[in-house]
Parts: sequence; structure tokens; C-alpha cells
Amino acid sequence: MSTVGILGGTGPAGRGVAVRLASAGTEVLVGSRDAARALEVVRSMAVPVSGSMRGVANEEAATCDLVIVATPWDGAIETVSPLRDALASKIVVSMVNAMMRGGRELIPLSLARGSMAGQLASALPASRIVGAFHHLPAAHMEDMDSGLVAAVVLVGDDAAARDVVADVIDGMPGLRAVVAGSLALAGAVEAFTAVCVTINIRHKAHSYLRLEGLPR
Ligand SMILES: NC(=O)c1ccc[n+]([C@@H]2O[C@H](COP(=O)([O-])OP(=O)(O)OC[C@H]3O[C@@H](n4cnc5c(N)ncnc54)[C@H](OP(=O)(O)O)[C@@H]3O)[C@@H](O)[C@H]2O)c1
Repeated sequence: MSTVGILGGTGPAGRGVAVRLASAGTEVLVGSRDAARALEVVRSMAVPVSGSMRGVANEEAATCDLVIVATPWDGAIETVSPLRDALASKIVVSMVNAMMRGGRELIPLSLARGSMAGQLASALPASRIVGAFHHLPAAHMEDMDSGLVAAVVLVGDDAAARDVVADVIDGMPGLRAVVAGSLALAGAVEAFTAVCVTINIRHKAHSYLRLEGLPR
């Protein structure tokens, strides 16, 4: 995949994915609602990468071959809806989790279509939606020296799109793609993020997921 765009790429989650993609030699367009802010964020990252990262408006990020949605859940549909035509026939990866804080825990929210990936699939009927990256701690993703070795669970109804995303992930340092299945599983995958984040709050950690016992 030669170019990857990240909508809402200026947050911790998008930045972490951007750094690891660029480290794999990919050209990454880090998108924002404000191109000037994206430029500033990318400039401040100053991470040595073999690919390139560029700060742009979300509209420009949406022109890439593969586009990742990395906004908060309550801004995701509002972000992608005006980009529906630009994103038609493209692979759109959702890393969005719908959760709310309840004391020292995160609580997954119930959504009409079962998951944020499902909500995006409904908003972008001509796009190829894949869910991935949900459980990764952003701090470890952005720090290339963190020693991260994590599984990335993938879901999606389009098997070919899933395989493309799995190849991209397998090329990112420290990550291993594990295809779970269809978009019907996205709600469970996203909800489990609330468990992961709550564990990290309780244990003051940045733990991550590894799945052992799978064939290479
Ligand atoms: N943080 C993690 O460790 C992590 C890990 C895996 C998955 N995720 C998921 O990834 C997503 C982003 O997480 P994050 O921690 O990076 O979130 P964030 O910092 O709150 O938001 C990411 C970016 O989205 C844009 N944004 C904020 N509010 C928006 C709105 N209402 N509409 C459109 N764009 C908006 C902002 O960029 P501009 O102001 O530049 O437009 C912001 O920098 C979430 O859905 C989260 O569940 C997070």
C-alpha cells in the first residue's frame, strides 16, 4: 500500500499508527480538521522513519489508497459523511471505539448497528470497511523504542480488503495481524477495548494484547 491517510490522525492513536506505518516505508498523510494543526503536529513528532509523514486536511488524507478513521467515536460519522464520494470503493479502516468513562472504568456503549465499524459501513455503503488497531496503547505505538510486540485483531466482511489490511499491519514493526472474521464480530472487538483500557487504568500500565498458539 503506497499511501495511507489517517482521518483525525493528530491524536495519540493516529500518531502512533502513522509512526509505525512510516517506519514500514509507507507515505502517510496525517489528517486533521485543520491542515495547519496537522502540519504542526507532524513537525513536532520528529521520529526517524523510512517512509514519510505529512500533515494535511482530512479531505486530502481521504484521497489515499487506504484510509484509517482515528477520530473519537462521536466525531467519526460527522467526519466521514462529507467524504463519502472520495472514500467510495476504498478500504476504510476503523480503529474507533465507542466508550464512556464510569469512575475508574471504561464502559462500552451500545450502538444501533452493533459497532462503530458497523456505523461507518452504514455511512459509507460504497467503501470496504475493516476494523483494526482497537486494542493498541497509543503511547507504545508512537515510541519506536517501547518494545511493543502486539496482536492486531481484524474484522470485516470483505475478505480481500481484510487481507490487504493484514499485509499492511504485518509490515509494521512490532505488530502481527490476526484475522478474526466478519463485521458481526466488530462490536465484541471494540467492547473489549474498554476492558483493555480499564486494566491499564487499574494497573497504571500500557499493556497490550498478544495471541499465542496461532500458526505462523
Ligand atoms: N488512544 C489510544 O490509545 C487508542 C488506541 C486504539 C484506538 N483508539 C481509538 O482511536 C480513536 C482516536 O483516539 P485518540 O486517543 O487519538 O482520540 P483524540 O485525541 O480525542 O482524537 C483524535 C483526533 O480526532 C480529531 N477530533 C477530535 N474531536 C473530533 C470531532 N468531534 N470530530 C472530528 N474530529 C475530531 C482531533 O484532530 P483535529 O482537531 O486535528 O481534527 C484529534 O486530534 C478513538 O476512537 C479511540 O477509541 C485509541
